[in-house]
Amino acid sequence: PRRVLLAPSLLASDFTRLGDELQAIAGADWAHVDVMDGQFVPNISFGLPILAAARAASPLFMDVHLMIDRPERYLKDFADAGADGLTVHVESTPHIHRAVQQIRELGKKAGVTLNPGTPLETLRPLLPDVDLVLIMSVNPGFGGQKFIPHSLDRIRTVRRWLDELGSAAELQVDGGVGPTNARAVVNAGASNLVAGSAVFGPGGAQAGLERLREALK
Ligand code: DX5
Ligand code: ZN
Repeated sequence: PRRVLLAPSLLASDFTRLGDELQAIAGADWAHVDVMDGQFVPNISFGLPILAAARAASPLFMDVHLMIDRPERYLKDFADAGADGLTVHVESTPHIHRAVQQIRELGKKAGVTLNPGTPLETLRPLLPDVDLVLIMSVNPGFGGQKFIPHSLDRIRTVRRWLDELGSAAELQVDGGVGPTNARAVVNAGASNLVAGSAVFGPGGAQAGLERLREALK
């Protein structure tokens, strides 16, 4: 069976207790950091200072999902603030390949993603040069939305493309993932699951993470 990395999304955490929340997910693999600018997506979340605080409070791999217009303007800033990986949207810049190159030049893991309505072909030319592909299974901008079922087909297609290339890139899925569908998402080919509301729910993040791991057994 495929090894699966879990990446709780800090967007759903209690920001007044960010240090404790990071402690509670210490058993996870990555921390997913959702940056929204109110332009690329219709919501504003948080940015550089919160990433820097999370970085200082936790040794987890900081997986930064940039939902911002023309992310190339800020890649170095996010790298300096403690990102280990940076994921950019194909829709957010006319120079997506250059953005990927810049992330690699900064010595960080380069990820690429796309909205549910964007044709998968837009990311195909990038596949040989990325460390991660993120399939969005909700429209980005908000936590707590419902998983779009057709995403499973998209995961299967990208899994096939990566395997054909012999790529070891992570295939990450983000949006509406929880104990009820995690198994199906992994069976479709995902290696890396983002989960916000399913982890930071009632009962605390440690229990939420445990429920997710149980569902994958
Ligand atoms: C959506 C974000 C997701 C979100 C996931 O724009 O990219 O990472 O926080 O939250 P859930 O797991 O609640 O759908
Ligand atoms: Zn995200």
